[in-house]
Amino acid sequence: MAAADRFETRVQSLDSAIPSDSLLSEAVRLLRAGQLVAFPTETVYGLGANALDSVAVRRIFAAKGRPPTNPLIVHVADWKMLTRVVADWPTAAARLAQAFWPGPLTLVLPKSDAVSTEVTADGPTVAVRWPAHAIAASLIRLAGVPLAAPSANRSTELSPTRAEHVLASLGGRIELILDGGPTSAGIESTVVDLAGEVPILLRPGPISIAELERVIGTVRARSTNVIGPARSPGQMDRHYAPRTPVELVSRAECDERVRELRRAGEDVGLLAIGESGTPGAIVLPADAAEYASRLYAALHELDSQRLSRIVIERPPDSAEWLAVVDRLTRAVGNR
Ligand code: TXA
Ligand code: MG
Repeated sequence: MAAADRFETRVQSLDSAIPSDSLLSEAVRLLRAGQLVAFPTETVYGLGANALDSVAVRRIFAAKGRPPTNPLIVHVADWKMLTRVVADWPTAAARLAQAFWPGPLTLVLPKSDAVSTEVTADGPTVAVRWPAHAIAASLIRLAGVPLAAPSANRSTELSPTRAEHVLASLGGRIELILDGGPTSAGIESTVVDLAGEVPILLRPGPISIAELERVIGTVRARSTNVIGPARSPGQMDRHYAPRTPVELVSRAECDERVRELRRAGEDVGLLAIGESGTPGAIVLPADAAEYASRLYAALHELDSQRLSRIVIERPPDSAEWLAVVDRLTRAVGNR
């Protein structure tokens, strides 16, 4: 990184329910000047830049160390902004937006010419989302432009659900972090591709397939329609991953697995569901949505303990755990 790109990263605390417009003025000034600002959304913290400014968008890729082939989500806060970024607005998009926006749902649609080609990795489509978080919504509205924002972490690392996570990952690389406390959903938005004939789920998330299908009928899962590796590169194998090696182990076996590894001299942490007989385990709730809201904070915590290994109890094989299992599988990844 060039010396000119080094920043003293400032963290500004805001009331996440009613952020005052005047406290957002510095963030707005930076965004209008083509700089980067990290901000909370209801899913994870995003690293925002003006989506209509190629130079600003390139700064996102540089700060994250993200390959330019991996496109970004554009965040809007009103219908006028939406019409500036998409070239087509099919009925299915209108129905989903009506049901779930503002909220943790991203729609992939044909892009307009206004969106910088860096945002979409030169592709013909743009991923767009209208976030519900009050800070995100106010920031976009005051900036007056749509914001390109990936999760505010270095590429392939865990997504941030707290301002401290952003600072640990991107401190020195960005100017400002807006701290609105922990995010509520805790995992990244559901991504649905509406640019083709059939809606395709590209990334499971807080809005489930069942909820989508109630509104637009059949949604195809990505695995049954292989369209090539670059279609949604967030689907690369190792992603959302802690630095510590991770193992997914069935409920029946995980206490014994931890005992066995500890006997062999390893320093092992356990992430359990509902309850655990293992000393020192982090126990998350047995409700999938509550588990998701706390998952990344738990993984960040375990990752900071300098363990030799993290054992994670495998969640049940049912639909409501789909998004969590997706993230855990990627945390294990291929190394
Ligand atoms: O919840 C979220 O979605 C968060 C917050 C900040 O909004 N953002 C987020 O962004 O997770 P990111 O960049 O970490 O993940 C975006 C995902 C990636 O898997 C990317 O490949 C996919 O969306 N994506 C973006 N544009 C796309 C496009 N035009 N076609 C297909 N996939 C796209
Ligand atoms: Mg990400």
